[in-house]
Amino acid sequence: MQQFGVIGLSVMGKNLALNVRNNGFSVSGFSIDKKEVDALAEYQDEKLKPTYSWEEFVNSLEKPRKILIQIMAGKPVDETLHKLLPLLDKGDILIDGGNSNFHDTNRRFHEMQEHGIHFIGMGVSGGEEGALKGPALMPGGDEEAYREVAPILEAMAAKNDDGQPCVSFIGPEGSGHYVKMVHNGIEYAIMQEFSEVYDLLRKVARKSNDEMSAIFADWNQGLVKAYLSEITAAVLKQKDDLTPDHVIDHILNVASYKGTGNWMLEDGVHLGAPISVIAEAVIARFMSKATTREGQEISWNGDVPDDLIENLGLALQLSQAVAYAQGFQQLGMAATAYNWALRYPAIAQSWEAGCIIRSAMLKDIEKAFADGKQLDNLFQDQYFKQLLETNIPALRKVIELATQAGIPTPTLSASLNYLESIFNPSLPANLIQGQRDYFGAHTYFRNDREGVYHTEWYEEK
Ligand code: 6PG
Repeated sequence: MQQFGVIGLSVMGKNLALNVRNNGFSVSGFSIDKKEVDALAEYQDEKLKPTYSWEEFVNSLEKPRKILIQIMAGKPVDETLHKLLPLLDKGDILIDGGNSNFHDTNRRFHEMQEHGIHFIGMGVSGGEEGALKGPALMPGGDEEAYREVAPILEAMAAKNDDGQPCVSFIGPEGSGHYVKMVHNGIEYAIMQEFSEVYDLLRKVARKSNDEMSAIFADWNQGLVKAYLSEITAAVLKQKDDLTPDHVIDHILNVASYKGTGNWMLEDGVHLGAPISVIAEAVIARFMSKATTREGQEISWNGDVPDDLIENLGLALQLSQAVAYAQGFQQLGMAATAYNWALRYPAIAQSWEAGCIIRSAMLKDIEKAFADGKQLDNLFQDQYFKQLLETNIPALRKVIELATQAGIPTPTLSASLNYLESIFNPSLPANLIQGQRDYFGAHTYFRNDREGVYHTEWYEEK
């Protein structure tokens, strides 16, 4: 009898199955696509069993069965649950490891509960390589069931610098997929921040691809020690197969998306979360499709300040912190709205290795939230407050220069605006309230006494 089962054996499913096997657990694999099962069969040994039917798969597993479903999010997950249900026993554990929408996971969690089946919605990050060598895992749902699968998940997960597995129980219902959705919103934001810095490096600092690659590689040793720095350096120096050029110069500048970042924005709007940088990153992808391409290439002929590269590094470091801060801010609001007791240090820890947004800064975030510390905003923490004070002059200078050069910086500018707002007690929303009361008698609160007020506005004729 096998200890674990994986349904769906495309790249992610296959690699996760091999990861489980490589960590000493026996595993069965099944896919409705026979070719995928055949591909897994090439690795067959006493611990890895390819199976060719639903029945053979389910019957090969020890009870309670532990099944990871690694297929395309959406309808296929419901169809798979429908197929599996009659074959399962009460107490069996299903884990959906796809990028499912948390609303679907909430529903499936309760539907499965009615059948006595434990359902875990698990965010998986790290792409192909992570799946094989150690992904970051974000499981949410049934805690009791999580305990049953924890030894396997901990073995397969990436390990942070302290050797801790990048997985821990997130919370009930769809909270695991919610955390993955927030991970992806942050992913979109930081990727867009990198793109804007790249744009300034090439158009304002006039650096070559190889020079830019070296700059990102250097930041990866210090200021922005992050997987995205590492891969940016690699992407920029890659030569093309088809021309003598760098491949980056021939990649069409239209960004695709499957939408998990968009979902974060949708729920952010629902919750009223001020996730401006994530919003700008999502919209920047839309903009990349919407530009008419009729304009002229921007060329900046101004002087290049001596401290430009240094300031870009500091600006990127601070903007990266803002992306995380907005992610954690939305998590806090979701925890209250959905009644989930989220553990922020554990979430930060589970992102420290294996996932796309992994970076040295996550350790500082883990510390900021340690010992049950409640922060409305990450920048209330001393370390991040200091980072803000040290780096904000650089971010201001970068935005100023970008504005002069006519280069759009939606996420870097949004980061600056966010930082200029969060500790600002005199934002001008009083005028909005006055206008609302003027045209619609919507009433307002006062800053000097309790109660709700309406003014009979004097209209000059
Ligand atoms: C990960 C990623 C991954 C995601 C891709 C593509 O954590 O491994 O988030 O799950 O699917 O990054 O996302 P987009 O197609 O939306 O850019």
